[in-house]
Amino acid sequence: MDKVTIENLSDYDGKEIELRGWVYNTRSIGKIWFIIFRDGTGLVQGVVVKGEASNEAFALKQKLNQEDSVIIIGTVKKEPRSVGGYELGIKDITIVNHVTEEYPISPKEHGADFLMSNRHLWLRSKRQNAIMRVRHQVVKAIRDFFDINGFTLIDSPIFTGNAVEGTTTLFEVDYFERSAYLTQSGQLYQEAGATAFGKTYCFGPTFRAEKSKTRRHLTEFWMVEPEMAYVDIDENMTWAENLVSYILDKVLAKCKNELNTLERDISKLENMKPPFPRITYDEAFKLLKERGSTFEYGNDFGAPDETILSNQFDKPIMIHRWPAEIKAFYMKRDSGNNDLALGVDMIAPEGYGEIIGGGQREDNIEVLTKRIRHHDLPLEPFQWYLDLRKYGSVPHSGFGMGLERTVAWICGTKHIRETIPFPRTMTRLEP
Ligand code: 4AD
Ligand code: MG
Repeated sequence: MDKVTIENLSDYDGKEIELRGWVYNTRSIGKIWFIIFRDGTGLVQGVVVKGEASNEAFALKQKLNQEDSVIIIGTVKKEPRSVGGYELGIKDITIVNHVTEEYPISPKEHGADFLMSNRHLWLRSKRQNAIMRVRHQVVKAIRDFFDINGFTLIDSPIFTGNAVEGTTTLFEVDYFERSAYLTQSGQLYQEAGATAFGKTYCFGPTFRAEKSKTRRHLTEFWMVEPEMAYVDIDENMTWAENLVSYILDKVLAKCKNELNTLERDISKLENMKPPFPRITYDEAFKLLKERGSTFEYGNDFGAPDETILSNQFDKPIMIHRWPAEIKAFYMKRDSGNNDLALGVDMIAPEGYGEIIGGGQREDNIEVLTKRIRHHDLPLEPFQWYLDLRKYGSVPHSGFGMGLERTVAWICGTKHIRETIPFPRTMTRLEP
């Protein structure tokens, strides 16, 4: 007998098959009863009819509990009214493990904190399943995009000896006789990669000891970071918009069911074709002022500012050329105005905020040395980084895209903690 999964049921119309999984729910109407069954790939309704099912299976009516592990055998039938379009005429049910206590997560409403404390179980629910499957496709699309476009994967280390994005958000750890930090970004190592391979990327967890409790901040999040030699800020923006548009194409093609489960308005994700609007920080500032914002020039945009800005457009926008004082030490200055850094942020539509940060890097060794000093950073751990300017320095650029923020936007989830299997925030280390 074929052992199949729910997502592939359509290949087995009319056939008897075996499914292995768990009880999601049961209900009965008169002489028949129904088992809603999940196997991780989807949900299917099994119909248990006296005479058609074995006596043993039929006798399980009202005896199965939510999350009992069971193996079921039955015949696949087309049923347009059913989720997934198929139903199962049950023949046999084998209980692998019977749950004797009430399952903590019932169909009734639970608070977010309760659900997060039960994250190890909550992942089984339909909505969480859909989000994780979208995340999976986003990751796959990212890797495919870079692969197709000639990038080499160069993994950046997680233990590092220096800061990248400012010293206030570093996690310090004991590292034998000295201190190390959990990486905030793999960028600096990608700069070494780009000079060795031309175009590279890394994709892994990054850490920020941010004392921030917003719905956009995790202390551990995944970032994908491409870096390209002989690329300026304009071409960098082209790479960024192409990546985002590629991801959306793939997710829309592969995750229709998941997005439906999430009740995502898909029309808002369609037609995200490049070019995306590119505006300078100064233009963004003017736009905010015209809309009555109290935003002060020289600051970073807060969530409400980003929402006002993104609402002016129906695609993600790229804001470039920032006041250098609020950007990282490694950013190259605009040749037309030394107060501006060649940084770029991409802001997602619908108020989902910044999903990408990047820019063109300083490639002059004297200027870069001065900047490191100006930012009060120790020179010693950056010697290797300065070497990249000593030997074969070229204009180069790159960016980092936050995976969870991107998934949150695509899924339409309010809080990014639902977009990572086991979120880490200021107040959560378990499960
Ligand atoms: O803007 P950020 O800090 O840029 C960098 O780290 C650069 N070194 C990247 C590069 O150029 N290679 O972070 C990049 C992105 C943000 O746009 C956001 O999507 C995400 O990483 N991000 C976070 N996501 C979740 N929680 C946090 N605390 C995040 N901080 C940044
Ligand atoms: Mg940023």
